[in-house]
Parts: sequence; structure tokens; C-alpha cells
Amino acid sequence: MIVMPSIILGLESSCDDSAAALVTSDRRILAQAVVGQNSAHQPYGGVVPEIAARAHVEILPGLIEQVLGDAKLSIHDVDAIAATAGPGLIGGVMVALLAGKGLALAAGKPLIAVNHLEGHALSPRLADPDLDFPYLLLLVSGGHCQLLEVRGVGEYRRRATTIDDAAGEAFDKAAKLLGLGYPGGPAVEELAKKGDSAAVPLPRPLVGSGEPHFSFAGLKSAVQRAVASGDFKAEDIAASFQQAVVDCLVDRTSLALRNSNAPALVVAGGVASNEAIRSALAGLAQQQGRAFSVPPQWLCTDNAAMIAWAGAERFAAGDCDSLDVPARARWPLDESAEKVRGAGVKA
Ligand code: KG4
Ligand code: ZN
Repeated sequence: MIVMPSIILGLESSCDDSAAALVTSDRRILAQAVVGQNSAHQPYGGVVPEIAARAHVEILPGLIEQVLGDAKLSIHDVDAIAATAGPGLIGGVMVALLAGKGLALAAGKPLIAVNHLEGHALSPRLADPDLDFPYLLLLVSGGHCQLLEVRGVGEYRRRATTIDDAAGEAFDKAAKLLGLGYPGGPAVEELAKKGDSAAVPLPRPLVGSGEPHFSFAGLKSAVQRAVASGDFKAEDIAASFQQAVVDCLVDRTSLALRNSNAPALVVAGGVASNEAIRSALAGLAQQQGRAFSVPPQWLCTDNAAMIAWAGAERFAAGDCDSLDVPARARWPLDESAEKVRGAGVKA
């Protein structure tokens, strides 16, 4: 019997990117579109939830039409609809989820309520057909910095998280201090290319510690003092800051790898689009004799292809949701993990 690949429509609106995508269960991206809202939030130096939610309402319907048009498909050709149902800014999360519910109801299609973090966690498998379970995942985004053992779809064991800021949050705060605007990660990376990463002495919180977690708050305060001192060039602060983050990520991941027999190290989330971070972690994996996988940069930052792909993985497992599934502001991937002080402040 020939099994036809299924086609999944993915919808995403949990932060400040509206996105829609059509992805097949055999890893073809039929169409995808992302519209960011940077200019709308720029004057405020961060994402304003009310502005984000309203923008999603305006943008998302057009993106759904666009991806269906680009793929020359109608909603009736789709096998299931996967929408992010959390975690995130709740007003925004509701936009994609309600759109997904409406389409599922109108077209008589199954709905899959996807955890945005599961989208990031499984995204490397969309790009890399050879990546099997289990793997150790470093999930680094604007709201999260976690190490997770990924044993299968829906099987996540958290090994470490941040006790204060997320890695992306640290980049965004450093960027703000350097007057680089929002979002900060790409701007800091660009400026760091022109600077000396050894010029500014900055701390590496928790590096060398036997406890597994991450911390970035002290690094942010040190950047603040370095900027205020007037003693350093902005590009040197950016390069030194980025190097400190790299050192923290490598040290914490190295500890987790030593305690894990997972054959592969995988990195995902917006911060994984940073070249310095990608290459440092690739080096660590090689040193410890593990395979390494990181999605292409566009698949690291928020998008709907990863949501459609997580939907495809769950659809293949027969794991769909009913139409009364709620939107969730907070939704840890490993519900059994103990709460760690300060973690999970943002989505
Ligand atoms: O995964 P993502 O797009 O959204 C969340 O789910 O949070 O991650 C966004 C975060 C932001 O904090 C942004 O500054 C950071 O990822 N980021 C970067 C880079 N590109 C995005 N951080 C460092 N270097 C980059 N090139
Ligand atoms: Zn994300």
C-alpha cells in the first residue's frame, strides 16, 4: 500500500512574528511566510502585547491565503491544521489558535494544538532527515534557555534551565544598553564582528559550577557598568558580551553532555541563528564525540514551518486535539520539571 504524505498547515502568533506554512510529512516545505512586527515595537524597546495581538489579527488571515495560493492548494487539500497554543503572549497566542480552530471546524479537519517550544525542539528534524531520537537539545530563544533530553515526540526531560534571564533576553538587554534597538540579537552579532572579544572583562555566571543551570543576569549588569564607565568601545563590549554568552552556553552544555549518553547535540531557537554560538557548539559536539545538528538560520527564529512540522510529527502519531483546547501563556515542555527561581518570565 502506498501511503501518501500528509500536508499540514502551520500557524504561529505567540510573540511578534505572524507566520503560516504548509509542510508535508516527508519534509517538503510547500510554502511559508513570516511577517515580523519590529517597526511597530521598536519605539518601545520590546514587544508590546496589545500591539502584537492586534497586528496578528490583521496579518495572519492574509498569510494563510498566501501560503495556500503559493502552494496552489485549497484548505480542503490539507490533512490537518497545527496552531501554536502557547506558551507566549496570550492575546497573540489566541489569534493563531482561534484561526486554526475556525478553519478546522469549517473544513472538517483535525486540529493539533502545538507547544511553541515543541516546534523549536523538533525543528532540527525537519531540516535533518538523519536526526533520530534521542538527542540533547539546547533550546535558546527570547524567553527560554534550557537543556532538554528529547527522547521522542512529546517526551522531553528538562536537564537545565535559566535561573534568571533567557539567552535571547540577555542579547536584547545588552543591545538596548548599547543603543542598538530591538530585537537585539542580530544587531549585537553584527557589531561584535568589529570588536575585540577580550577587551572587556565580563563575568561567566555559573561556569565551572556543578549545578546544571544557566544564569545571565550578572552578565547584563556587568555590561551596564561597562557602558556607563565610558572606558570601552561599543563594538568591544558587544564582542566581549557575545563571547561571555558563548562560554556560558558551551560550559553548561558540556556538563549536560557529560551526564548524557545521547548520541547527538542539537541547538534550536532564535539565538541558535548566531554564527559564533553555532560554531562553538559544533566544536563542543565534535570534542565530545557526538553528532551535531542545527537548523538553517531562518528555521531557528520564529516561523510556522516548525509548527507545521511538529504538527506532522504529532499527526503521524495520531495525536490530535479537540476544539476546546485552551490557549496557554505558560506551558513547560517537561511538566514534571521543578520550578526554578526566575525562569520562564517571558514566553
Ligand atoms: O525563537 P525566537 O525567534 O522567539 C522566541 O520564541 O523567543 O527567538 C528570539 C530571540 C530574541 O531574543 C533575539 O534577540 C534572539 O532570539 N536572536 C539572536 C540572534 N537572532 C535572534 N540572538 C543572538 N544572535 C542572533 N543572531
Ligand atoms: Zn520561538
